[in-house]
Amino acid sequence: MRKKIIAGNWKMNKTPKEAAEFCRMIKEKAASNEAEVVFCVPFVDLYPVLEELRGSGIGVGAENMHFEDSGAFTGEVSALMLKEMGVEYVVLGHSERRQYFGETDETVNKKVKKALAAGLVPIMCCGETLEQREAGITIEWVRMQVKCGLLGVSAADAAKVVVAYEPIWAIGTGKTATSEQAQEVCHAIREVLTEMYGKETAEQMRVQYGGSVNAKNAAELFAMADIDGGLVGGASLKEEFVSIVHY
Ligand code: PGA
Repeated sequence: MRKKIIAGNWKMNKTPKEAAEFCRMIKEKAASNEAEVVFCVPFVDLYPVLEELRGSGIGVGAENMHFEDSGAFTGEVSALMLKEMGVEYVVLGHSERRQYFGETDETVNKKVKKALAAGLVPIMCCGETLEQREAGITIEWVRMQVKCGLLGVSAADAAKVVVAYEPIWAIGTGKTATSEQAQEVCHAIREVLTEMYGKETAEQMRVQYGGSVNAKNAAELFAMADIDGGLVGGASLKEEFVSIVHY
């Protein structure tokens, strides 16, 4: 039985002070015995959020990292830096990073491997544009993203990876995929994971849905057979996140 994982993705929101205040307000209510709860936050918020959430049972994640350990990469942060701070998760290959910051399947793959080597749990994102959905290539596209992102990753390591299916047309638009649409793609992801790693490993791996998840649609989405929780953007910045965790 896979444990659901419900992760907030704050994106570029909340200053360190706002982050600490929000965590203080929400931590007891957002903790869960049933689901794994994670706050993925901007780099500068990591320290106050880690401090505030210590002992709460809520995990902390970054929203990106570099694939090298150190070196001349101005403005970047490594997996080792995150790990040493006490960060446990990292979002990799979010569509906003692919769209605005030149992230590719190749860099995502390097980052996934580095995160695993450092002992971080990668939350690896994939998902199609509206044009791709309308052209009928969603499944092929997402299968390819998953294959490329996990290229060279062993089954033992892959078992730790969380895959987040986020249709780009549903992100921040208030336009959620129907639970059937989300299940169809999450099932296809499980199938490609089965082809790559075998049934046992694929059945252990968590596949999340993300894209306008809110307190009203979470229960229906998370009830689908291959949806093991969500990656939540806008609604994770508010108290609404509590209702999503306890869907
Ligand atoms: P959203 O964002 O919930 O605001 O649509 C989801 C995401 O980008 O992870």
